[in-house]
Order: sequence, then structure tokens, then C-alpha cells
Amino acid sequence: MFRNKVAIITGASSGLGAALALALAKRGTHLALFARRKAMLDETAAQCRSCGVRVVAVAGDVTQAENCAQLIDAAIAEFDRIDFLIANAGISMWARFDEVEDMGVFRTLMATNYLGLVYCAHAALPYLKASKGMLVGIASVQGKIGVPLHTGYTASKHAVLGFLKALQMEVNDVHVLTVLPHWLRGTDLRQHALGKDGGPQRTSSPRHNKEAISVNKCCEAILNAMKKQKRELVIPWKLRALPWLQLIHPKIVEWLVKDKMKDQDLPK
Ligand SMILES: NC(=O)c1ccc[n+]([C@@H]2O[C@H](COP(=O)([O-])OP(=O)(O)OC[C@H]3O[C@@H](n4cnc5c(N)ncnc54)[C@H](OP(=O)(O)O)[C@@H]3O)[C@@H](O)[C@H]2O)c1
Repeated sequence: MFRNKVAIITGASSGLGAALALALAKRGTHLALFARRKAMLDETAAQCRSCGVRVVAVAGDVTQAENCAQLIDAAIAEFDRIDFLIANAGISMWARFDEVEDMGVFRTLMATNYLGLVYCAHAALPYLKASKGMLVGIASVQGKIGVPLHTGYTASKHAVLGFLKALQMEVNDVHVLTVLPHWLRGTDLRQHALGKDGGPQRTSSPRHNKEAISVNKCCEAILNAMKKQKRELVIPWKLRALPWLQLIHPKIVEWLVKDKMKDQDLPK
């Protein structure tokens, strides 16, 4: 499934993207990696190369369509094919909506989490069609339910889900897998999450609750879902019930989510 295939991974300088890159390298997949922090990206690339695969590391910003096109061009120049696009780059927020001072927060979240995926998918699609490949979109359980302090993030992940669902109906030759993880441990997402002033929080608090999943566990689940050609992967699986419960008892879901966030200064 993975040996001698070519995967593009956006957001490969840390967290889930870096873990996926290494896991695929260990399975013999050649890689084109993308992110803005070049030194960290090069570190991931070096680790992957030590597994014996070829790797191109492209520095760029997913919010810029031309950077996304350059990534795809670089992958084609090096490998002449693309089998998997893993659209993983993302950014979060931690702020109550009524306290946000810089509305640019919402623009950045949509530009990164939603448009970044759209730009990469658009540039890669002809090659994915040619290889009958796979587009893996890293969304979040927040693509299906709301979470307080995350209005803009939740909206951007809902947008990702809508886009991928519609795209799957347009393309027969390309398999689309949507990944919806719960909180992950071992990533930089919280540290870089945008605060109310529009800048990164640069703090590891608020702390993770005990249900957070390790990136490596998430990574293994994603590779397994790719192998099984699943359409959707919710991690952990028990959260699959939430959207159904939301249809029947939306107030119970609101209570459950607010209860999980109770350390985070929420309205009573
Ligand atoms: N952590 C969680 O609890 C959690 C839960 C559900 C879903 N997810 C999703 O998982 C994905 C990976 O996040 P993570 O948790 O692994 O966080 P992370 O460690 O912060 O990784 C985010 C990656 O995205 C890249 N990125 C951010 N903005 C970018 C931009 N404008 N252009 C190019 N690359 C950009 C970052 O690289 P640079 O900063 O170097 O550009 C980094 O490599 C995200 O889509 C996130 O929404 C995470």
C-alpha cells in the first residue's frame, strides 16, 4: 500500500504531520513535506531520509495559493507522480468570541485550515486522478460539533468537512478520507493557537484533559484507515456517537462539551 508511493504532507514541521511523515517513511513512502518553519521541516526530512526514502522539503505558506502550487510542482519535478495528499496544516484559537479584538483571527483560521486545504487539493487533483490516489483531509471532531473558545476553528473545520464531502461526489478516481481527531497530545497546536488579540498564545496551557490521544496513536489509526479505504475516521471511535446524539438531544451534547472544557473560563 505505501512502499514506493509518493505522499505530500502539509504541516510536516511538527505534531501530527511530522509523525505521519516518519511513519510513512518507515513504510517506504517517498515524501514531499511542506510548512513555514524551514529548520524544523528539514529536521523531519532528515529523519525520514534516514529510513531510506527520498524526501523534498518545501518551505511555504498554505494560505498562499501559489505556494501550494509550488509544492505540487516540486513533488512532480522530483517524483513525477503523487499518490497521497495529506492536507494537515492547521492552526487553532483560544478566545471567547465576545472578547476577540482582532477579527483577523477568523480570516487566518479560514485561510489556513480551509483554503490551505482547498489550494493544495486543487493543484494536486490532476496527479491524484492519474494515480487513482487519495486525498486525506485532517479535520477535527470540531468539524461536526461546536466547542466554546473555538468559534473560528470550529467553523473552519465544518468548512473542510463540507468541501471534502462535495468533492468526493465529483471525483470517482480519487479516494477522499476525512480524519476527525479529538484533542491530540504532543503537538504545537495549543502553543500556536491564536488568542483574542490575534497573536499566538505561546503557552502550553490550557492543559490537555486525560482523554487526549498521542500523535503516534492517531497516526497509526490514519494509516490503517488509508489502507482500508475508509471515507471517515473519528478518533477515538466512541466520539462517533456525538453527532447522532446532537441530532436527538443537542442540549446534552452542549452540556457534555462544556463539562469537558470546565477549567477554561466558560459562561455558566
Ligand atoms: N492537536 C489537536 O488537539 C488536534 C485535534 C484535532 C485536529 N487537529 C488537526 O491536526 C492538524 C495538525 O495539527 P497539530 O496538532 O499537529 O499541530 P502543530 O504541531 O501545530 O502542527 C501544525 C502544522 O501546520 C503547519 N502550519 C500552520 N500554519 C501553516 C501555514 N500557514 N502554512 C503552512 N503550514 C502551516 C505548522 O507548520 P509551520 O508553523 O512551520 O508553518 C505545523 O507543521 C491540524 O489541522 C489540526 O487542526 C489537531
